[in-house]
Amino acid sequence: MPQKAPIALIGAGVIGRTHIDRLQQSSRARLCAIADPTEAGRALAGAAGVPCYASHAELLAAQRPAGAIVATPNATHVPVALDFLAAGVPVLVEKPVAGTVDDARRLVEAQSSHGVPVLVGHHRRHNPILQRARQLLDEGRLGRVVAAQAMATFLKPDAYFEATWRRQAGGGPVLINLIHDIDMLCFLLGEVRAVQAFASSATRGFEVEDTAVASLQFASGALGTVMVSDTATAPWCWDFCAGEQPQYPRQAVNSHFIAGTHGSLSLPDLSLWHYAGDRSWHAEMTRSQTAVHAADPYTRQLDHFVDLIEGHATVPLCSAADGLRTLAATLALHDAAVRGATVALG
Ligand SMILES: NC(=O)c1ccc[n+]([C@@H]2O[C@H](COP(=O)([O-])OP(=O)(O)OC[C@H]3O[C@@H](n4cnc5c(N)ncnc54)[C@H](O)[C@@H]3O)[C@@H](O)[C@H]2O)c1
Repeated sequence: MPQKAPIALIGAGVIGRTHIDRLQQSSRARLCAIADPTEAGRALAGAAGVPCYASHAELLAAQRPAGAIVATPNATHVPVALDFLAAGVPVLVEKPVAGTVDDARRLVEAQSSHGVPVLVGHHRRHNPILQRARQLLDEGRLGRVVAAQAMATFLKPDAYFEATWRRQAGGGPVLINLIHDIDMLCFLLGEVRAVQAFASSATRGFEVEDTAVASLQFASGALGTVMVSDTATAPWCWDFCAGEQPQYPRQAVNSHFIAGTHGSLSLPDLSLWHYAGDRSWHAEMTRSQTAVHAADPYTRQLDHFVDLIEGHATVPLCSAADGLRTLAATLALHDAAVRGATVALG
């Protein structure tokens, strides 16, 4: 029986608890330590039977895990990850990869100079539904993609906003939620070249946006639109309809739509539309559906992280550079909304 890879968790908050749970269920990895300065962190470590350190530096001084999961607040992702990379320890860094594009670039450079694996926690890429969608696109089943739409509409309860940071810039649904949808579009359609956007805080009246829409231009030439609102009574969001998150009741609707010259695809139901005969809007369209096995993306993400650690995989499904591209497009959306201008990405 091969040894389980010892993985340290840095930051034992909301998503940290998901990582603890998946580590405890894993046949290939185990939680070996937690770094978190809070009493709650110590309690979680105690319950899991692993040591707790007040900081990742203390943890690194005491032990050398096979990998580290960085699930701390955004601004700390890169400084923490850099210390692990310098020690030769692979990292799974939660999304967004960094608080700023400059920080994300530092991580990309460090990954390249140390040659130590970095996986970014855009977990939806590990969902078999999204992987099948990518396969259909790669096989050319849609022809050339011309346009895509992603929706993320939901109603957050008032209690969610009791934490001050959730009412302030950077704590809103663009960087917390929509970044996942932008990453999905990047995964499927490639790099974003330019962004136009509007944001509104008119409903909740907080400093941070409650609603935003944007138009994206991809380097491939495809165009996309994205919409997010945390104040809408509406079911169109991946978290509801893909069934990834048991805490949200599941809705039988779609949230993502991709239109190509020879076919189109809705997600997550994986309906593929095309013309079997005449290709014209006067002809009947044919709809086919691919079934995929449901699988927990966080479990698959952890397995992929172990593959990277053990050298069974060499290319991360979401690299630091991928995380940088998604972050840059998401921050450009903010920028475009504030400036009322088109923001071009390098
Ligand atoms: N992939 C996903 O589905 C998903 C979901 C939620 C959050 N996230 C991301 O995970 C990160 C954490 O989010 P959260 O909601 O769990 O936040 P949280 O506030 O619930 O948890 C953060 C934890 O980190 C600890 N912490 C803070 N600074 C630290 C440091 N320097 N060293 C060690 N521990 C430290 C805090 O004490 C806290 O326990 C964010 O970047 C967020 O965007 C990802």
